[in-house]
Amino acid sequence: MIPETVRDHFPILKRMVNGFPLVYMDSAATSLKPIEVIDTLVRFYTAHDSNVWRSPHVLGAESTDAFEKAREKVAKFIGAKPSDLVFVTSTTDGINRLAEMLMRRKKAVMCTVMDHHSNMLPWYTRARKFLLCNITKEGFIDTEDYENKLKKVDVVAFPMVSNVLGTINDVKDLAERAKDRKKIVVVDGAQGVPHVPVNVYRLKIDALAFSGHKMLGPHGSGGLYISPELQDELKPVFSGGDSIKAVRLAEKGIKIEWLPPPHCFEAGTPSIANYVALGVATDFLSRYIDDVIPHERELIKELINFLDDAKISYLGPPPEKRCGLVSIILKEPDRVAYTLSKYGICTRAGHHCANPLHDFFNVSGTLRFSLYLYNTRREVEYATVVLDQVLTQVKEKAVKYVPPDFTFKMARQIPCELCPYSELCETSEHAIELCPYVPSFVKKRRFHAVVREEIATA
Ligand code: ALA
Repeated sequence: MIPETVRDHFPILKRMVNGFPLVYMDSAATSLKPIEVIDTLVRFYTAHDSNVWRSPHVLGAESTDAFEKAREKVAKFIGAKPSDLVFVTSTTDGINRLAEMLMRRKKAVMCTVMDHHSNMLPWYTRARKFLLCNITKEGFIDTEDYENKLKKVDVVAFPMVSNVLGTINDVKDLAERAKDRKKIVVVDGAQGVPHVPVNVYRLKIDALAFSGHKMLGPHGSGGLYISPELQDELKPVFSGGDSIKAVRLAEKGIKIEWLPPPHCFEAGTPSIANYVALGVATDFLSRYIDDVIPHERELIKELINFLDDAKISYLGPPPEKRCGLVSIILKEPDRVAYTLSKYGICTRAGHHCANPLHDFFNVSGTLRFSLYLYNTRREVEYATVVLDQVLTQVKEKAVKYVPPDFTFKMARQIPCELCPYSELCETSEHAIELCPYVPSFVKKRRFHAVVREEIATA
């Protein structure tokens, strides 16, 4: 298990919500950010702010150095060379850029039923022929259908990890099958790269897109790996400042000489501070990445045991085949998510930008718990107690559904400064046992009683 001290790096985890400690279980939507990442953003704008690859002054040199060092770190994190890593603002941005370049030359694409809209719509809207590979009821890619449809397409695109099922796909096997037929393999790494150690060369894939904000980095940062072979086939679709070596007057107007990759794919001023901070996030995550999935699996097993005991249905494979994510089938997932949030528990409800997948399972929406390296067993236990109570109350129609009012909720939080135990927090390592708002094992019974009481009067 990842040591609980990792939580000390995430200031937001000290937040209280309605007097309850924040229990963040929505990391598939966006992860929390460690103080190292937050500090980097502040430090960049405070001390080094300047454009990159342009300005021959001290700040310009510092920014460029920090920006390219970040590229080295992020590339190393996925086993790539810096020249093969294009900085993009998100997975969606990366896949759209790639699809725009690739579909000028290729015609037919296969995605899978488990794909997020972001790895489906960019292909669907550009391809002449679009096929969807089936999945099994257990939540795996149907390899027989994959093999059959593979023959009919030029490009295959699939997720490393499903954001709804939690399934960790066998990328190497799927890529090998496609490469045997000389197809281009594109992987949506949004839910994979933050959790699973990745090496693009070992996986033998052509492209991988991922988002920084789901892997402890800032919003508006991410990466698009493009293999050197695929780079040779692509022409930049966005052009402008800093993507070219020279633009000369020529007989027919102008003549362009592009910079080599990755710069030819990065026209315009990038979100420099975000990428520098993404480098810091990958440094941080590198220390834990080998333990993330084992940690998440321990926790998700507990949650799934509870669901099994309570006879609550959920999508996806058994814990040993998934990451720390589970989507529960409920009649009113929004209402339950909202009620959970009154007790500090953050989850996501709805179709999670994977409508076709929900259609496949014939459900309109699910309630998703998505865990990460900072979640603890105690939090899972707390979540199951509250979920159990909330579901009982919902069944009995005792909980009145009120649409979220975040201003109201924020006004009611109890900041640490007002907490009568705040001094102790700073001086005592046993503060957690003394804090009236933290559900430690020591006070489990009392805390559970408090939750029940609160819910009953909600
Ligand atoms: N793709 C993100 C999610 O699954 C936003 O929540």
